[in-house]
Amino acid sequence: RLVLVLNGPNLNLLGKRQPHIYGHETLADVEADCRLLAGELGLELRFHQSNREYELIDWIHEARETAGGIVINPAAFTHTSVAILDALHMFEGPVIEVHISNVHKREAFRHHSYVSLRADGVIAGLGTMGYQLGLRRVAQLLDQAKA
Ligand code: DQA
Repeated sequence: RLVLVLNGPNLNLLGKRQPHIYGHETLADVEADCRLLAGELGLELRFHQSNREYELIDWIHEARETAGGIVINPAAFTHTSVAILDALHMFEGPVIEVHISNVHKREAFRHHSYVSLRADGVIAGLGTMGYQLGLRRVAQLLDQAKA
């Protein structure tokens, strides 16, 4: 029951980055909250962030062998990356897409997501709570798959 939480570009600066949009919590805070919840849900967690598209792709490839599910905030790659979509298409477990902000309330270029073509669920605009809801959903889908 390993779950991967993947974060795309600029999320390393969460807390400093446009706090009126993304809030004051840092990515380390988000990771700590995810670790706490993962413990409660009986999930093992790996939490990664990268500004490099290939690194996210490599983690998704690895997940094929090691992980049951993926929670991913692809950040700006959401709107640009066919490569991340293709990688996710080769992963068989549940995938939940998370956006901290409500992308639909923002610029038109944020309204389209390549990743949504593969995601089993999409959370947007619930702040960093979206990560925790994503983890809960992955846990539920893994339970259902086992039953
Ligand atoms: C984001 C929304 C994206 O449009 C943006 O490029 C991000 C963060 C979010 O979490 O709200 O970097 O994925």
